[in-house]
Amino acid sequence: MTNASPPGRYPEIYEAARRDPEAFWLDAARAIDWAQTPTQAFAPESGPYGRWFPDGSLNACHNAVDRHADGARAEQVAIRYDSPVTGTKRSITYRALRDEVSTLAAVLAGLGVGKGDRVILYMPMVPEALCGMLACARLGAVHSVVFGGFAANELAVRIEDAAPKVILAASCGIEPNRVVAYKPLLDAAIDASRHKPESCLILQRPQGPATLVPGRDRDWAEALADAAAAGERTACVPVAATDPLYILYTSGTTGKPKGVVRDTGGYLVALAWSMPNLYGVQPGETYFCASDIGWVVGHSYIVYAPLLHGCTTVLYEGKPVGTPDAGAFWRVVAEYRVVCLFTAPTALRAIKKEDSKGARIADYDLSAFRSLFLAGERADPDSVAWAERVLNRPVVDHWWQTETGWPIAGNPMGLGLLPVKHGSTCVPMPGYRVEVLDEGGKPVPADTMGTIAIRLPLPPGCLPTLWGSDARMRSSYLATFPGYYDTSDAGVIDADGYITVLGRTDDIINVAGHRLSTGGMEAVLAGHPDVAECAVIGIRDSLKGEVPCGFVVLKAGVDRPTEAIERELVAKVRDEIGPVAAFKLALTVPRLPKTRSGKILRATMKRIADHEPWTMPATIDDATALDEIGESLKDRGIGEH
Ligand code: COA
Ligand code: AMP
Repeated sequence: MTNASPPGRYPEIYEAARRDPEAFWLDAARAIDWAQTPTQAFAPESGPYGRWFPDGSLNACHNAVDRHADGARAEQVAIRYDSPVTGTKRSITYRALRDEVSTLAAVLAGLGVGKGDRVILYMPMVPEALCGMLACARLGAVHSVVFGGFAANELAVRIEDAAPKVILAASCGIEPNRVVAYKPLLDAAIDASRHKPESCLILQRPQGPATLVPGRDRDWAEALADAAAAGERTACVPVAATDPLYILYTSGTTGKPKGVVRDTGGYLVALAWSMPNLYGVQPGETYFCASDIGWVVGHSYIVYAPLLHGCTTVLYEGKPVGTPDAGAFWRVVAEYRVVCLFTAPTALRAIKKEDSKGARIADYDLSAFRSLFLAGERADPDSVAWAERVLNRPVVDHWWQTETGWPIAGNPMGLGLLPVKHGSTCVPMPGYRVEVLDEGGKPVPADTMGTIAIRLPLPPGCLPTLWGSDARMRSSYLATFPGYYDTSDAGVIDADGYITVLGRTDDIINVAGHRLSTGGMEAVLAGHPDVAECAVIGIRDSLKGEVPCGFVVLKAGVDRPTEAIERELVAKVRDEIGPVAAFKLALTVPRLPKTRSGKILRATMKRIADHEPWTMPATIDDATALDEIGESLKDRGIGEH
């Protein structure tokens, strides 16, 4: 444990939220402009577990943009777009952002988009994507951003579920090693989906322009220019606090991704609370979240929270390394006088690998920089200690999920940093009553491992339900432990109340901070005509945390070379899920290790691959199968450290 400042205000604030949540959250709600100020914080009787601010109404775009553009921040930079992959930089003031967003909203309204309609975005990290999200919010429409590293099939599933009226897309995304043509993926997804959008607005990028489909596709720049010339603007449409702001799909344990619904009022209140109190950031300062708008972290801390709080947000279209080097983040921090950087541990590991002494840091003036926040996967203590040493600033590991929308636990920088324990994500944020439960749902003593669950109700900002399915919300999260939300994370809480998250209890793995379902990958492998059965596990990787590894048993009589089949399997996952799955290991084995009742021993396979001690399960059907797994890994040099 390293020492920090005295206890600060955290205990008092957490206790206030626990003792009187109504008063606490109505007070926090004062950071937001309301069309109709809420008189009640929580309505326990509505929705699967209750709803926040049931009688309030507001508009998210007004809060994030207009109130600053109409006030003292009009000429302050709202967005610093910095794109080393295209060699472009652009600064957009709050006034310019309001103008662009209100014009784009007029374009969307002209395409028939109104309150409650869904709009899918399939876009890279460009300012137009943020404008698209905010324009939807302005109209009361519900946006759903799909990460660019997902393939057409994944996009199709989301189009079918969200049934968007319009899709906003860019012609291409730019990865350091290639231009990724998005438009053919979009066209294939629309072809594959039973739901068809009425129109698509396509942002043509010079690095890879696309062919537009007559009658359906419109050119973004032309549409915007026409609307601007005609002086078209749209005002902010107030919505109920409980109305959805967005849907964000995330990997579920069964095939179909879960459409996490984010309501408007509770979300904005929680984000506004987090900026000064958790991140210790003040209005007017610059905040840099190096994630992607396709993920929840990007929604919350690239777009909504910094803008709500009147900060300047950095939109970085590049990587931590290779664009051009391991000093990229420090260059951005120095150039824009960033006070807080938020990234994934995997990015830190990538930087550490290339610049182990942190020599690049000395090239830049980091005098404005106060703290580094990490999330998205377990932050390994080595990397945290390294970052503390080379940066000589607090490094805060904080824990959250797509479902929660803002951190469940962290070290509250703005309330006075608590002592740091490496490996732990520190203490719960206000409103989160976190407990560790045994299999029967009973709280376990301190320092005992179990499933981490959150006592209902969840605080504002967390998902009220899943899109179109209260029943799936209940069965996925609320049924396992009555009275609790099941996080599906395993971990411990120590005697000081510090939470340590150790891994998932379901089939989700975390690859370079990206959340993926091994079940989804198994479904793709099982669809190959030569595969009889398969199992995918996440194996330890020094850069990405975990990478998927698939084991396949071929059908009897298949006599093609296994190398060819394995190559086809790797390509199949890339085509059907996307490059983001980072699926590069398909191994053919004679059989899969199973229990006598037929359950595949994935956990034991993982221990073997990770070179951890393991014991032969008493229930194993055929013990040689585990040896064969070990042999096949050894043949490929996998898992050797
Ligand atoms: N569009 C299209 N393809 C994408 C993409 C996008 N938006 N994002 C990633 N990909 C592709 C990559 O090009 C790569 O393809 P490849 O197999 O052809 O090389 C593949 O998906 C895997 O990408 P990634 O996992 O990002 O690995 P990488 O090797 O490109 O980069 C890191 C490694 C560590 C630099 C990178 O993973 C990183 O920055 N991670 C941080 C993640 C993060 O911020 N997560 C958010 C949670 S807070
Ligand atoms: P996502 O929904 O993509 O944000 O992924 C959420 C999952 O990532 C959680 O359920 C955890 O398993 C993992 N995760 C996120 N942050 C942390 C963290 N700080 N420490 C450990 N695991 C984390």
